[in-house]
Amino acid sequence: MRITVSLIKADIGAIGGHTAPSAEVLAIVRERIQKAKGSLLIDAHVGHTGDDLAFLMTHTHGADDPRVHQLAWDTFLAATEKAKGQGLYGAGQDLLRDAFSGNVRGMGPGSAEIEFDERPSEALMTLVADKCGPGAFNLPLYLAFADPMYSPGLLLSEGLHDGFTFHIMDMDHTEGDRLIVLEAPERLYDIAALLRDTNRYAIESIWSRKYPTEQAAAVGTTRLRNIAGRYVGKDDPPAIIRTQKMFPATEEFGPAFGVGAFVGGDTRGSHNLPLMPVPMNTPASTFFCVPMVSALGFSMHDGILTEPIDLFADPFWAHVRDRVAAKAIEMRKQGFFEPATLPFSELEYGGIVVRLGKLEKEFSIRDGSGDGKAAPIGAPAGVEDPD
Ligand code: 13P
Ligand code: MG
Ligand code: MG
Repeated sequence: MRITVSLIKADIGAIGGHTAPSAEVLAIVRERIQKAKGSLLIDAHVGHTGDDLAFLMTHTHGADDPRVHQLAWDTFLAATEKAKGQGLYGAGQDLLRDAFSGNVRGMGPGSAEIEFDERPSEALMTLVADKCGPGAFNLPLYLAFADPMYSPGLLLSEGLHDGFTFHIMDMDHTEGDRLIVLEAPERLYDIAALLRDTNRYAIESIWSRKYPTEQAAAVGTTRLRNIAGRYVGKDDPPAIIRTQKMFPATEEFGPAFGVGAFVGGDTRGSHNLPLMPVPMNTPASTFFCVPMVSALGFSMHDGILTEPIDLFADPFWAHVRDRVAAKAIEMRKQGFFEPATLPFSELEYGGIVVRLGKLEKEFSIRDGSGDGKAAPIGAPAGVEDPD
């Protein structure tokens, strides 16, 4: 059976800051989404990570279906009404446009969707992150889909041996979002050169090379800043990943997320801290809003989902979280000094940016220190790298 899995998320307000949606908001959302089961939707699951609500929906209408997106949008609007009524912080935060035009993309909410012919044992994993940007998944997905040191299936399984095709989004190009398609392992170094810059480039999708019509992963790459033109909150990406058989096994993602890589986000969206794997429905951390990600495992048949397995909740992850917390505490000791804060170009709050503009006037060129021309950016033409 050909099934579409849609994961749509938004932050529409939280209790006492950017923490978690209220029980009343969750009740409204669950009721609305559940009501669509058996008509528009086959099945659905509602949850949250930090202050981000996420709807997982299965149906047969393909990606970008206006009715499915409308359902999500209308549900976010109804939830926002409740959030406003309760005085929740940042009520309606991610709803950046008034008139719905058929798709939540470009309107604030994030979405990840995959359409596929269901396998006899269809295994899925959903990821919902909070307090970080879409590039937060770059390292774990690179390790799980392209590095045999982390992903032994690349060596042990014929289904994975040909590698995977990475679709990578340039989220910060002046003319709009641009996409590049690169195949691993041949273009591994080019993939690495892009993915290292998690603030600019993000994996958008990953595809099997042995079975080229089979999509392995979809990641939401919405950048709220690009839509709103100013900081309104972090992007907090969702992702759907198909696992097992022709894809990496569910447990092959564990060590990759266990790294707890430093990513941009956290307090005021302007800092670097390690990405902490957390159980589902975890509120944001009062320790400086450390970035977090939850992972749910599902099986599916004819579009009907089993109950989720909370993939970062088993006892092992307590140890990982302790390590990630220690990394976060160390980083916070250096306060506002980079790389604890993001570089100038990525700072989400105007304060420092405005201040540096004002300080420009107070600078003067030191006598005899140059020719008055602006410093060149990068190495001059014809200069070879030293060995
Ligand atoms: P969210 O993007 O999760 O709303 O967080 C915003 C923020 O600035 C937290 O300090
Ligand atoms: Mg928020
Ligand atoms: Mg959030």
